[in-house]
Amino acid sequence: MAEKTKAAGVPKAKKIWMDGELVDWDKAQVHVLVHALHYGSSVFEGMRCYSTPGGPACFRLHDHLHRLRQSAKIYRMDIPYTDEELAAATKELIRVNEQQRCYVRPIVFRGYGPMGVNPLDSPVQVTIATWEWGAYLGDEAARTGIDVCVSSWTRLAPNTEPSLAKAGANYMNSQLMKMEAVINGYAEAIALDINGYVAEGSGENIFIVKDGGIVTPPSGASILPGITRHSVIVLAKELGHEVRKQIIPREGLYIADEVFLTGSAAEITPVRSVDRIPVADGKPGPITAALRKAFLDIVTGAVPDRHGWLEPV
Ligand SMILES: Cc1ncc(COP(=O)(O)O)c(C=O)c1O
Repeated sequence: MAEKTKAAGVPKAKKIWMDGELVDWDKAQVHVLVHALHYGSSVFEGMRCYSTPGGPACFRLHDHLHRLRQSAKIYRMDIPYTDEELAAATKELIRVNEQQRCYVRPIVFRGYGPMGVNPLDSPVQVTIATWEWGAYLGDEAARTGIDVCVSSWTRLAPNTEPSLAKAGANYMNSQLMKMEAVINGYAEAIALDINGYVAEGSGENIFIVKDGGIVTPPSGASILPGITRHSVIVLAKELGHEVRKQIIPREGLYIADEVFLTGSAAEITPVRSVDRIPVADGKPGPITAALRKAFLDIVTGAVPDRHGWLEPV
């Protein structure tokens, strides 16, 4: 059985994959002078492995590894492993850790080297960790919906930190958003982009439903183009809904019929209020519920995987 760590509360697994080796969980360590610790030079992924009738299966593993490589490319990092090698490593790790379901966290970072800001002479390291992680925004969230606020922090401006890279440094902005939200009694914050339009949550994309149509901000609105977001767009179209990638003004959140967040960690989470203004009647709406069901049916193997999204471990 998984044992809880004291500090972070992440349940320990047996091993972590580190630069090609399976290392004991407690021995997966780096030097305090790694470049990433000082300058934020890391890119990473977060995905889930689900328990299905056919055994554990990773959701869109290759799409996540593809995005990891693109994030690394933006920061001129050469990942010293192929996607196939990283996919095999991920699956081997889950098998060795004997996990039926888990969260998977590959990270590529600049390691120990010259301590200047220039990262190019620091080695690129890769690790993959897996742990059991329940509902990211709380167990009640799916049933009741969550309360969110619009952040006083603006999301990354396009000419500052690229939002298409899932870079560790981007999450300093996310942390400012999240801390402000939590301290003020909200489950999550939604940031606006530099132009004042809705961007995304600290770790999720956002959708609104209005008059039967579904809208989500475009990739130019300082968002990470989520893999769950893409999956939801595909599923929504299958359910007969029109989906538009379109800028959303802040007040569009207040007058939406439904609002929901998507992410590998958050899955599909309904929002019941924004800045204490109830979304419709303050209860999760039918389109959110139908999409959530369609998503969970696929990831848990309850229905056939018609899109080839599940990769058996
Ligand atoms: C800032 C941000 N936006 C969006 C997402 C959703 O992306 P995905 O669905 O690929 O997990 C995440 C989660 O990874 C995120 O951290």
